[in-house]
Amino acid sequence: MRIVLLGAPGSGKGTQAQRLTGIYNIPQISTGDLLRAAVSAGTELGLRAKAAMEAGELVSDDIVLGMIRERLQQPDAVKGFILDGFPRNLVQAESLDALLAELEQPLQAGLLIDVDHDILMKRLTGRLSCKDCATVYNRYFSPPRQEGVCDNCGSTNLYHRADDNEETIGNRLKVYESSTAPLIGYYQNQNKLKRVNGIGSMEDISNAIQAELDKL
Ligand code: AP5
Ligand code: MG
Repeated sequence: MRIVLLGAPGSGKGTQAQRLTGIYNIPQISTGDLLRAAVSAGTELGLRAKAAMEAGELVSDDIVLGMIRERLQQPDAVKGFILDGFPRNLVQAESLDALLAELEQPLQAGLLIDVDHDILMKRLTGRLSCKDCATVYNRYFSPPRQEGVCDNCGSTNLYHRADDNEETIGNRLKVYESSTAPLIGYYQNQNKLKRVNGIGSMEDISNAIQAELDKL
């Protein structure tokens, strides 16, 4: 299965991608996670990406496209992939189509997780992520069973993302509207757009996504 998860910051792309990897046994490829790993490791790529990420702007296309090209050619992506947070503008979407045509593995769907903007702020200001296994929690909606300890791997490295403050979130939402939302029309024109309501329990949303994916 080869799909893109589309949706605003906080719509649940990462949360749902983590569930889908277990079900379909294909990797989640999140450009945000790859970039944060590069920033924490202090690589040259991370240093180039850091300022844009902290401001809630998009990192340049050449950095992201290079990263994706390399990642999609790793052996675990042969069976398929769930792209999370990529593509994020029309140039990236067209480049992805060209790359997948070269690999003879065209994309099957762009799945939009639809959430009203007023809900997103609370989801993002409350988010906690595990530094060791990347499991995502929420202080208000889905806290870990024991405060400060990851349910999945027992790590005590739960952190609040640097870009999850109100000012940066406001900018991320604007960038989503101007640069990323046009991809909804792009995939609609290719007859690849699927939509699910992203408000409700995480399980109900997973079930709705699976129902769409099982039709592919
Ligand atoms: P990225 O990491 O992709 O961030 P984002 O798009 O802003 O999306 P988020 O990760 O914030 O949201 P999500 O949809 O994954 O939500 P989640 O599941 O965590 O990108 C970060 C930055 O990197 C960008 O700003 C940019 O600078 C750069 N970047 C990345 N990709 C790029 C690209 N392709 N090109 C250029 N630059 C790029 O859920 C959020 C919270 O809500 C969690 O706490 C979760 O527990 C909770 N939640 C989830 N579902 C529910 C539910 N159903 N009910 C209640 N709470 C829920
Ligand atoms: Mg995410």
